[in-house]
Amino acid sequence: MTPTLRGRTCLVTGAAGPLGSVLADALATEGATVIAVDLHAQGVAASTEQLPTPCDQTHQALAADLLTRDGLDAAESAARSAGSLDVLVNNAAFTGTSGVPGYAVPFEEQTDDAFELALRLNLTAPFSLARRLAPMMCASGHGSIINVSSIYGLVGPNMGLYAGTRMGNPAAYAVSKGGVAQLTRYLATVLAPDIRVNAFAPGGIARGQDDAFTRRYESLTPLGRMGSEDDFRGVVTWLAGDASAYVTGQVIAVDGGWTAW
Ligand SMILES: NC(=O)c1ccc[n+]([C@@H]2O[C@H](COP(=O)([O-])OP(=O)(O)OC[C@H]3O[C@@H](n4cnc5c(N)ncnc54)[C@H](O)[C@@H]3O)[C@@H](O)[C@H]2O)c1
Repeated sequence: MTPTLRGRTCLVTGAAGPLGSVLADALATEGATVIAVDLHAQGVAASTEQLPTPCDQTHQALAADLLTRDGLDAAESAARSAGSLDVLVNNAAFTGTSGVPGYAVPFEEQTDDAFELALRLNLTAPFSLARRLAPMMCASGHGSIINVSSIYGLVGPNMGLYAGTRMGNPAAYAVSKGGVAQLTRYLATVLAPDIRVNAFAPGGIARGQDDAFTRRYESLTPLGRMGSEDDFRGVVTWLAGDASAYVTGQVIAVDGGWTAW
């Protein structure tokens, strides 16, 4: 069977991270050429090296800090050098485990500086990349922007989940991921009909969290388990390709049913 994304070029941010590298792998498996962007030079070089090449694609790794204008410029230049861009996946973000001081701490300890920094990576960078890359993506004829939101962009946090653990759920995360959902709807109407814009909202991914947290999380999830990175292969390839050609402006929860009740 012909890979569904053969001939398409996809720029994926946060592509050295555990989810970003799997999203890049899923797109490459379907024949796409990947421009993998991440802050961590070694990590992104190593994960890009391992991407599949079923259509003899030449993938590209770019070390760039998306908190800076230079980093955003570099991502834009990488797409221009590739000659065309069909898909942008905005995945890089500060999550609950990013170690930013004043961020994933109890509410009263969360700082304005951490709040602003998180909004800059989680929300301003996707906005800026979409604006910069839209002209190229319009020209592609297959433009698709895929934003990674979160269940915490759709519903409020259940802080009881974290009782007795060192885990946190920062206000800036929720606000930025809610902003990503609304940025998705905004861009979907403004960039139609040339570029489709959708988001998916992952539920919690199992990464060796505290047992008590995991048990509580699973009991609140209709499908009875946390996610794995592989659970998001389907949604990213579907949104990237022509099978979703009549879908735009949607935020698709991929969360085992967490937001269904
Ligand atoms: N892990 C979960 O349970 C979960 C749940 C819901 C949504 N999500 C979303 O999925 C996405 C990926 O999550 P993850 O858990 O794999 O994240 P992660 O923190 O493990 O990885 C994020 C990647 O972004 C990169 N990055 C950080 N700062 C950067 C910068 N300034 N410039 C460029 N790259 C930078 C990091 O190096 C890392 O490779 C995020 O958008 C997150 O909000 C994750």
